Order: sequence, then structure tokens, then C-alpha cells
Amino acid sequence: MFWLPDTAPDKIEVVWCATSGVTRAREKTTSHVVIIDTGSALTKACVAGSRPLQAAVLRTGDVVGTPTDVVRDQHIGSVDAVARLWGHVIRVGLGLDPTSTEVVVSGPADPTNDDAERTAEVLFEVLGVRAGVMVQRPLLALWRRRTLEGLVVDAGHDSTRGWPVVEGHVILAEAFTYPVGGRGIEAYLCTLLRQMGYTVPKDLSMEDVRRMKEELCTVRLTGAEGPKYTTTGQDAFTTPEGLEVDLGPITECAAEPLFDPAVLGIDERPLGEMVAGVIGQDRDFLLKIATTRNIVVTGGMSLLPGYVERLRHETRQRVGDDVEFKMRGSEDATMDTCMGGYIFGTLRTTRKLLVTKERLRTEGAWQLCPL
Ligand SMILES: Nc1ncnc2c1ncn2[C@@H]1O[C@H](COP(=O)(O)OP(=O)(O)OP(=O)(O)O)[C@@H](O)[C@H]1O
Ligand SMILES: [Mg+2]
Repeated sequence: MFWLPDTAPDKIEVVWCATSGVTRAREKTTSHVVIIDTGSALTKACVAGSRPLQAAVLRTGDVVGTPTDVVRDQHIGSVDAVARLWGHVIRVGLGLDPTSTEVVVSGPADPTNDDAERTAEVLFEVLGVRAGVMVQRPLLALWRRRTLEGLVVDAGHDSTRGWPVVEGHVILAEAFTYPVGGRGIEAYLCTLLRQMGYTVPKDLSMEDVRRMKEELCTVRLTGAEGPKYTTTGQDAFTTPEGLEVDLGPITECAAEPLFDPAVLGIDERPLGEMVAGVIGQDRDFLLKIATTRNIVVTGGMSLLPGYVERLRHETRQRVGDDVEFKMRGSEDATMDTCMGGYIFGTLRTTRKLLVTKERLRTEGAWQLCPL
């Protein structure tokens, strides 16, 4: 267990990054440790040690067009696209010259040679940063909670992933991917809206659908007393063009595929069953102790009202009353990984894991993945 350095602010101020602009060059002589968490919907970045802690956030697609060019199933995409994105977020989002930075990037739970080589090429050959390191996303999400053990459930845009971590090691053999995330919910919302007679895109843009998802949708809760709803008390949406849409019960059922894949006709286990499969009765005690104590729910989709309660309930139903577990979400779930990187980049011990180009040249790109 370690603690957030005294200097780490616990409030994050999110600043949306412009989609175009020039470097507001700060001092080039000082080295800044920059953290970049690349997501298929949102790319988040901040500077370690900065106060107030401001995070630059941008829509990945606004910079690279096709987000799968930069991240696909959590792995690093094309060097050109990634360089454009990271260069943009450092220069425009954080106002820094890349050559004055050391960079901590979030990487896949199962980094490959390809991930290491592409990351090294972007950081050192294209951007010319001073040093770099790639840290597995689940570790950064846990570091934010100041621990290196637990089960990270990351409900992102692409999908929902479960990563058990024991003593700082991601147990890949027990990791899972549940196929629905934010993108799947937007697609399902489109289907429901079309059934109501709206055309998408035309009457409604994909931007409208995204806002409906983020601002109006809630998660249906089921309990002994039957279904119960967490409602935002609002189900009316007005487009910028003035079209009024009464979403009615859609706001409460659009998120169902996040838990029950059968709604979309996907032949997969429900999310609660996947979580229960990791922490359940018959598991190895090391895995069980590490994961039941600390289930960290993160990622933007977990911000839907009722998400954590529903997942807790679905898991409880499957593991029974004998297995005690602790499951927590976070108020700024999209920023967890980035905040973990802030801690990583602030502590003197972990900062030593950043490697320079010279060291990579003699020892190989794999040195970028020290953990
Ligand atoms: N307040 C909110 N309520 C509901 N959904 C939200 C909210 N904020 C963001 N989202 C959704 O969460 C997703 C973005 O979350 P996150 O940043 O964790 O994903 P990502 O890292 O881009 O995706 P991935 O990790 O799958 O590549 C998007 O689908 C976005 O619409
Ligand atoms: Mg993510």
C-alpha cells in the first residue's frame, strides 16, 4: 500500500482540448512528466506535479478521424496516427514542447513487442521526447487508489474489460472482455430511436445520440422488490436544431446491454457472471483475497447513474451471500488511469522507470514496459 504524495491534488479540473492550435511553449529547459491515456472515445492527458491538476481531454476522433487507427482492442495502432494524437495533446492540450517532456503512456494489459516498438518510434523518433515508459492501464487505475491489488472493471467506449491484479501483476489468464461499451449503447439507442420513427443520422445526429446517452440514460436496478429505476428525472431532449424528443422509458432500458448481452443477441455471459467468475467460491485464495477486497469500477460508462449498484447486485446474485466483496466506482471515472499516471510520474521511485532513447538503443524497445 502506498499513499498519494502530499503534493497530489485530489480534484481534477478537466479542460477540453482544442482541435487545432499552436504550441503555447512553456519553458523548454525544465523537464515535465506528461501522462497520456489514449482511449477509443477520449484521450486524456495531464502533467505530473501540476497544481491545480488540470487534465486536457479531447475526443480521439476529432484529431485522428478514425479512433481505431490509434487504439484497437487496447493495443497501439499506426505510428502516424498515434504520433499525430500524442503530439497534439502535448502541444495544444498541455502547451508543451514534446522535446522538453518525459512521457508516461497507458498501455494494454498484455503489451506486445509491436506495442513497445511503435510506442518507442512515436515517442523517440517522431516526437523526440526525453524519456518514456508504458504502464499497463489496470495498474494505473489501481495506483489512483494507491494499491496494486484488485479487480479493475473498465467500462470504456470500446468494450468492458476485467483485469485481476495480484501484487502488481495482471493475471491475464483470468482477465475478461465483455463486448459492450459506450459505442454499443449508442448503437442500441439508435435502434430504439428508429423504432420510435426518428432517422439517425438526419433527424438526429450521432452527437445528439451521444449526449442523450451521457445526459439522460440511467441503469435499471433490479432487486428483491422487482425492478427499480434510478432516474435523472428527465427524459426530454432538444436537438440544437430545436427538435424535441421525448425519450420516455428508453432512458431506462438503453443501458441494458451493458449487463445483459442477450438484449443485442450476443452469445456471451452477462457482465455480472464474468465478475463473479473471477472472485467466486472456487478460486485460488491469492486471487480471491486480492480481488474481493478491491473491485475498482472505472471508465466513462460507469458514470451512468446506477451502474455500480447494478453490477454489485448482479455479482452478489451469482457469488451468493458467503463471498464478501468491496466494489467502488469513482466520480471522475474517465480520469482514473490518467490520475494513476500522475502518481506514477510524481513519485521518485517510479520516475526512475522512465527510459531514455540511449538506453532503448542498447537494450531494446521492450525496456519501455518495465512492469
Ligand atoms: N458522464 C457520463 N455519463 C455517461 N457516459 C459517459 C459520461 N462521460 C463519458 N461517458 C462515455 O464514456 C465513454 C468514454 O469513457 P472512457 O474515456 O473511459 O473511454 P475510452 O478510454 O475512450 O474507451 P476505451 O478504453 O474503451 O478505448 C464514452 O462512450 C462516453 O460517451
Ligand atoms: Mg480507456
